[in-house]
Amino acid sequence: MALHQQYDLTSRIAAHLDRHLVFPLLEFLQERQQYPDDEILKAKIELLSETNMVDYAGDIHKSLYHTEEVPKEMLDRRAEVVMRLKSLEDSAAPLISFLQNASLVQELRPDKQYNLMMLNERYQIGPDQIEALYQYAKFQFECGNYSGAADYLYQYRALCTNSDRSLSALWGKLAAEILMQNWDTALEELNRLKEIIDSKNFSSPLSQLQNRIWLMHWSLFIFFNHENGRNGIIDLFFQDRYLNAIQTNAQHLLRYVGTAVIVNKRRRNMLKELVKVIQQEQHSYKDPITEFLECLYVNYDFEGAQQKLRECEIVILNDPFLGKRVEDATFSTVPLRDEFLENARLFIFETYGRIHQRIYIGMLAEKLNMDEDEAKRWIMNLVRNSKLDARIDSASSSLIMGTNHLNIYEQIIENAKNLSMRTSVLAKNILENVQPQGSR
Ligand SMILES: *[C@@H]1O[C@H](CO)[C@@H](O)[C@H](O)[C@H]1NC(C)=O
Ligand SMILES: *[C@@H]1O[C@H](CO)[C@@H](O)[C@H](O)[C@H]1NC(C)=O
Ligand SMILES: *[C@@H]1O[C@H](CO)[C@@H](O)[C@H](O)[C@H]1NC(C)=O
Ligand SMILES: *[C@@H]1O[C@H](CO)[C@@H](O)[C@H](O)[C@H]1NC(C)=O
Repeated sequence: MALHQQYDLTSRIAAHLDRHLVFPLLEFLQERQQYPDDEILKAKIELLSETNMVDYAGDIHKSLYHTEEVPKEMLDRRAEVVMRLKSLEDSAAPLISFLQNASLVQELRPDKQYNLMMLNERYQIGPDQIEALYQYAKFQFECGNYSGAADYLYQYRALCTNSDRSLSALWGKLAAEILMQNWDTALEELNRLKEIIDSKNFSSPLSQLQNRIWLMHWSLFIFFNHENGRNGIIDLFFQDRYLNAIQTNAQHLLRYVGTAVIVNKRRRNMLKELVKVIQQEQHSYKDPITEFLECLYVNYDFEGAQQKLRECEIVILNDPFLGKRVEDATFSTVPLRDEFLENARLFIFETYGRIHQRIYIGMLAEKLNMDEDEAKRWIMNLVRNSKLDARIDSASSSLIMGTNHLNIYEQIIENAKNLSMRTSVLAKNILENVQPQGSR
């Protein structure tokens, strides 16, 4: 199996998503041409068969089978959807026309009980009409009318007294905001949902676990699009209860936490815990991204890390959350891939620099998968812009690390005390470096 298919997480992720949220993933796979087009179109029809997006399903059918005909069951389903829509519209009409009248809406107060009583007494709008609003909103969502659904679900929640229903409306609202790419609002709904899921009275621990796993999967859309997402994902996924959920039943999410930590310079401090978790889970999940970190921070295997880095690039480019292209002048920049490589190289360099006093640039270039000139420029830049205590010795074309560089790597070195070493030479090098730490 080709690398990108071997590491494709789409089906594992889709299992934790609303089916509408699977569409963007299929769209991505289709653009990337990772699978035969027909296969993707069939998957889309399959997904649509359980929604009300009947016309869309019909269009895909036509293009898949090169026909103008739509199968009878699709036509029947269409008639059924139209009829049901009409009937739901009628049941929800009293409440909806109230909500659409600005002067009537002014009668509402920030007091649910009062509103319910007022609606009932003055407008004969009771639990049945409120329930109809929920059904209508849900139906609109299934029709792919996410903005209509979001509005009605919001209004429904303001009147709803059943906590299960209210929760389900919130999930629907979150999905609708994600599908409309309203990242700020989606993030607000995500936090609202998280608060409810984490609350003490939230049903059973098992359902709490399941809800947390869903929440993390849904959050990927937001975190890899929202401007503050790279902090957001780390803040959420590293919370004990969420990390625990990942380790219980969603180990594949380690790809996303791993990537987030690698690209987020300000959150380096999470590296240690991340590597620990990756090690604990190595038998249940690995991919080039987790293996890269393992090579570098557990095994000090630079060759391995370098090879994994190449594979990481392929994985990132083909991952729906990580591989999004940004339309700049060349139409081909994938910012996350670029940042990932830049930071991953820095990791290799730092780790390598920590255990070697003198680094030959040619050798380092090889380890970083760069040509020698490029590596030289990169390193010179790095030394200039960082607090790195090192100087370049042009004569031997090498980089000489100062003695103070230990401070910079303090954290990792502390970690290194316990890690298995590849060779005795390597071990000796590291022990020399570790001793001053121990006496501090
Ligand atoms: C809003 O409701 C008031 C009171 O029932 C009614 O007089 C008015 O015509 C309604 N406005 C609209 C735009 O339907
Ligand atoms: C979506 O729902 C809203 C509210 O019901 C409605 O006004 C709008 O016409 C719907 N849009 C489509 C495209 O059906
Ligand atoms: C949990 O309790 C809070 C406050 O008492 C309440 O608002 C909320 O609806 C409850 N949630 C559930 C799921 O019962
Ligand atoms: C290192 O390993 C020892 C024994 O396995 C353990 O007691 C100690 O806490 C570990 N230290 C760190 C920093 O993980």
